Amino acid sequence: MYQELHDKLSKYGQQHLLKFWNELDSSRQENLAGQLNGIDWENLTAQIKRYVLKQPDAAIPHDLSPAPYFPLHPKESDLTELYKQAIAKGHELLHAGKVAALTVAGGQGSRLGYEGPKGTYPITPVKHKTLFQYFAESILRLNAKYDQEMNWYIMTSKLNDLQTKDFFEKNDYFGLNQDKVIFFTQGTMPAIGYDGKLLLAEKDSLALAPDGHGGTLLALKRSGALGRMRADGIDYISYFQVDNPLVSIVNPLFLGLHAIEKSEMSAIMLAKTGPFEKLGNFCMSGGRLQIIEYSDLPEELAKAKHHDGSLKFIAGSPAIHIISRKFIETLTADGKLNLPWHRADKKVPFINSAGKLVTPETQNAVKLESFIFDALPMATKSVVLEADREEEFAPTKNKTGVDSVESCQEMLIERDARRLKKGGVKVPRGKDGKPLIAIEISPRVAIDDEDVAAYCRSHGIEDLTSCHEGIYLS
Ligand code: UD1
Repeated sequence: MYQELHDKLSKYGQQHLLKFWNELDSSRQENLAGQLNGIDWENLTAQIKRYVLKQPDAAIPHDLSPAPYFPLHPKESDLTELYKQAIAKGHELLHAGKVAALTVAGGQGSRLGYEGPKGTYPITPVKHKTLFQYFAESILRLNAKYDQEMNWYIMTSKLNDLQTKDFFEKNDYFGLNQDKVIFFTQGTMPAIGYDGKLLLAEKDSLALAPDGHGGTLLALKRSGALGRMRADGIDYISYFQVDNPLVSIVNPLFLGLHAIEKSEMSAIMLAKTGPFEKLGNFCMSGGRLQIIEYSDLPEELAKAKHHDGSLKFIAGSPAIHIISRKFIETLTADGKLNLPWHRADKKVPFINSAGKLVTPETQNAVKLESFIFDALPMATKSVVLEADREEEFAPTKNKTGVDSVESCQEMLIERDARRLKKGGVKVPRGKDGKPLIAIEISPRVAIDDEDVAAYCRSHGIEDLTSCHEGIYLS
């Protein structure tokens, strides 16, 4: 086994990875051999040349223009009619069980300063339900409304797969049928030193990192989840990130528009709050839609304005998509998917040639990730639909400040307060207009305006102004 591996690695200048081979017992040798044999060396070597040994060419096209989108509030009557039809189509597809939910949850909560899988973070303002529980209960309600049992695909990474599954086990899948919660694990990419050599995290293990949410598509195929989707008669996936509890698990208008327009991959867009908001930007280039990450959009384009002072590149991505199953099948048909890689420079601990663990103080290695939105230009048709930020997007990225736990909870409270008001309920608000008390409505009983209004009617809830403590409706 050693000689074969040595010959292979020498061809690519990576034989240093076998330095400690003779110190390993047979099971550790097998572990290392398994990792090394799982790598497509020809391909990886090409990526190292392209992305690691030199700073990758700025992959920003020169002909970027803002992408067109379907507006939140249609002005023309034919668009109003199309939206009506789309909502009806969305409901029809949901009733027919043609839609699955998919959550990407491979990342850790590191920016939150949280150790566990991000989905296990307690987020709701009154009951402190975790992100996973909140999504699970929303799906329970959808199941009741549409008389279906929706499949929920959850993408984990090797870093958090066991912990995530354990968490669902311990919580009895939050009342969901456990056969309908389908975990699949994304792939990994090795961390690569600046000299192009892979790093060892242990004597018997490479330093590996999740391959980015672009890995979703291939992981669906490789895990068999895509095959099961077809067998279960699911045609559409509603894709969202684990860090956004405000998202509609499935937005019927968005789903219906995707289907009617025969789109292969669609995206929700939000008007950005400013030129540098940390959202991917919807752009057109060469007649194709694409998202340019916030860190990559040239500053002059980010700041460019129309005569009326509004931003030209106003359309930001909350990472909410409808993706057709057939599109994923086509893209992954031969078991490969060539999404571009994105380089991230990191501090990666490694075992040095003396066998000692080194924890670097400066960046020493490159991690390569692919992004799911790089599949957009591969679609023959895409729909971009504007959504109301207050109804769809409250990301939990940081502990405090922008996109934080605090701001997310405020938005959850505000959204439920708004729904109560629409349902005819008086809500106590301060001089600044904000609700005076924390409010939380369990998604088990209500996930939209109609649900909340019906709930309040049947429970005789009309006035909450005398309440002084957090309210939980369930
Ligand atoms: C991301 C998007 C950005 C979008 C913003 C909206 C990227 C590169 N950018 O930014 O365009 O406007 O969200 O909130 O994603 N994940 C995995 N596996 C991975 C990496 C990430 O499952 O290997 C998941 C995470 O668990 C999370 C999501 O992908 O649910 C986003 O990852 P994150 O690193 O938080 O992306 P942002 O930089 O916040």
